[in-house]
Amino acid sequence: MANDNDDIRRRIRTIPDFPKPGIMFRDITTLLLDAEGLKLTIDRMAGQVEGKVDLVAGIEARGFLFGAALAVKLGTGVLLVRKDGKLPGATIAEDYALEYGTDRIAIHADACTPGARVLLVDDLIATGGTARAAVRLLRKAGAVVTQAGFVVDLPELGGAAALRGDGIEVNALVA
Ligand code: PRP
Ligand code: HPA
Repeated sequence: MANDNDDIRRRIRTIPDFPKPGIMFRDITTLLLDAEGLKLTIDRMAGQVEGKVDLVAGIEARGFLFGAALAVKLGTGVLLVRKDGKLPGATIAEDYALEYGTDRIAIHADACTPGARVLLVDDLIATGGTARAAVRLLRKAGAVVTQAGFVVDLPELGGAAALRGDGIEVNALVA
């Protein structure tokens, strides 16, 4: 392969047993701290985008960082997909399953024009629960969502495959 993104992979730290025993946590804060690593990441995520995008949607919290940087590079605005209860205006919300219980994310009901081509961005996809809920929400708002970009995919958790089943082209820099 011409570029396996090893330069990005080695800038991501693994912390064992966080947030609980047995979990190997892929920590992108070390990638964010590295000026060259951050630039490579945004350049390559931009390189995976297909066609014209009207808006980037970033998922709280780490997705905001990559989403905003990518939006600047693509020349779009950025739409915030937040944990429920944080947005001040009228919202629409979606529940998604966690290992134990559920969580809820929300967007401003008027955040995008119907028909807008929205690129979903987050740092990482694991089970896909968060990203799939974000896609449902954006589609409810009338957005056309056909692609999503992540820095990291944890393929054994099945999220990327499930998101593809929802009709999304899924791109990740490292697995
Ligand atoms: C992490 C990560 C993704 C999500 C992935 O966010 O940034 O948003 O989990 O998991 P999933 O594919 O199983 O849904 P987290 O909820 O920890 O929020 P944070 O970015 O605010 O720390
Ligand atoms: N790193 C960051 N966020 C995550 C992870 C991880 O390994 N797993 C689920 N969310």
